Amino acid sequence: MPDVTLQGRRYHYERAGSGVPLLLFHGFPFTSESWRPQLDAPPAGFDLITPDHRGFGGSDLGDEPLTMDALAADGLGLLSALGLERAVIGGLSMGGYVALAALRRDPSRVKGLVLVDTQATADDEAGRARREATAKDVEAKGLQVLVDAMLPKLLAPSAPAELRARVEAIMRSVAPQAAAAASRGMGSRVDGRDVLARYAGPCLVIVGQEDVITPVEKARTMADLVAGSTLDVVPSAGHLVNLEAPTAFAAALQAFHAKVL
Ligand code: MLT
Repeated sequence: MPDVTLQGRRYHYERAGSGVPLLLFHGFPFTSESWRPQLDAPPAGFDLITPDHRGFGGSDLGDEPLTMDALAADGLGLLSALGLERAVIGGLSMGGYVALAALRRDPSRVKGLVLVDTQATADDEAGRARREATAKDVEAKGLQVLVDAMLPKLLAPSAPAELRARVEAIMRSVAPQAAAAASRGMGSRVDGRDVLARYAGPCLVIVGQEDVITPVEKARTMADLVAGSTLDVVPSAGHLVNLEAPTAFAAALQAFHAKVL
């Protein structure tokens, strides 16, 4: 259960496997526990590092806004603390927004990109207003608001009840203050299509075929922007493809490994 200290804040991460460093950021409202299948069976040839964003899991919230750029700076700070100059950087959904922010911040640290059930575009005005309303609602009523709004959409209809219960338990472990701050942070994110269009390195885009939050078209838009990228559409999986289809997820990473050596 390692921690590093970043600007006086405790920043928690999990680590498993060995090989090419692979920094994966978790989605919203989750923790690094949402990478459990990958932590228990690390993808072959990768040194998997999964931090908890500020305020989530074992990481301190601090008092700055949770912008995607701030969360990206933490991830890069962790790599530096571990003596790693470059890594394959990726994330699921909000974690993908953070990976794109890391790419914008310092492309020289990015050995490869893994974008999972995410999108490059920013919220429109109505979307930003919804983020603020969600933040206020979570502050007032707690995580139940997000469980009610998101749980029915996160997994493919065929997902087992046991997985649904595990996902709900991770959501309920998140502090409302952090979820509210991250909701506002996501609302303020910038469009990442420009950094993707400039990016010339290896890129893997993975999406569950039944993802209704960031559907296949969003994945295709990202993959189309990066020459030589791979788009992997995983059948019978929704928005949490690494939890719903860990074998297919591992196979996609294994095929990608040769491109990031
Ligand atoms: C996530 O899964 O991280 C969120 O659904 C992303 C979002 O709300 O845009």
